[in-house]
Amino acid sequence: MSKNYRETVTQHYQKQAKELGLNLKSTMPDQNIRELEITNIIKYLNDGDDCLELGCGNGAASIEIAKKRKLNQISIDYSKEMIELANKQNKLNIKGNIKFEQGDILDLKISKQFDVVFTVRCIINLMDKNDQKMALNNLAKLVKINGKLVLLEAFSDGLEEINMARKELGLDSIPPAHHNLHLVKSDVINHLKNYGMKLVNEDCFLSSYYFWTRAISPALVKANNVGIKFNSKIDSYFKFLTPYGNFSHIKLLIFEKTE
Ligand SMILES: C[S@@+](CC[C@H](N)C(=O)[O-])C[C@H]1O[C@@H](n2cnc3c(N)ncnc32)[C@H](O)[C@@H]1O
Repeated sequence: MSKNYRETVTQHYQKQAKELGLNLKSTMPDQNIRELEITNIIKYLNDGDDCLELGCGNGAASIEIAKKRKLNQISIDYSKEMIELANKQNKLNIKGNIKFEQGDILDLKISKQFDVVFTVRCIINLMDKNDQKMALNNLAKLVKINGKLVLLEAFSDGLEEINMARKELGLDSIPPAHHNLHLVKSDVINHLKNYGMKLVNEDCFLSSYYFWTRAISPALVKANNVGIKFNSKIDSYFKFLTPYGNFSHIKLLIFEKTE
């Protein structure tokens, strides 16, 4: 994909901003996934942390996180429309403080370092491998020694596994979204080693939920000739399953800066 991807990505998020406004469904229609993203990312954030978030979108999830942890947080997004929305979010009941700013992960104007730098499905919007590497470099530099880089992103290995399960059930493969380039886990781990970042955890928190909702459930739906329904009662049950396996592209990789 050439550098022209930026136009595609910008238009996609302008449309999301217009259609979904301040809603938590912006960029994530499946609200079980949204809930699991929030409950799982906060496992890696501690009260008192200085945090930097890249690709915060309309800020709805950032605010939910800020209600659960007392953070000193800066949240940045490239989209002007998304940051305008983020600045309208209701900050009542947040525990610490949060500042929303427009910025580009490829050209960050930040000099200080943070206890935690995190993303929620941001780097996958850079549809060029060199840009993804550059973004990882930029983020790694902004982490304090002993601090963490928390990547909640989409990875190709998880999508391959869910698609293998789907194939066994006679279902077509799920492709990556048109505006995303999934990360290759081994490339990310090897690249970040150059910046003193060591992988300390791979958290496939969505694996069991995804196995049910993207393999078993669609197969049942197909066999019974009924329509797929997101956010259904039955899907909601499966968000409580203990994660097992690697059946979701979306997962968390946690890195610690050792040098
Ligand atoms: C999938 S959305 C996720 C938004 C938010 N984290 C959430 O969970 O709703 C990805 C976000 O990354 C932002 N983004 C894309 N390219 C970016 C860049 N170069 N720098 C910063 N943000 C970017 C988009 O504008 C979009 O809001």
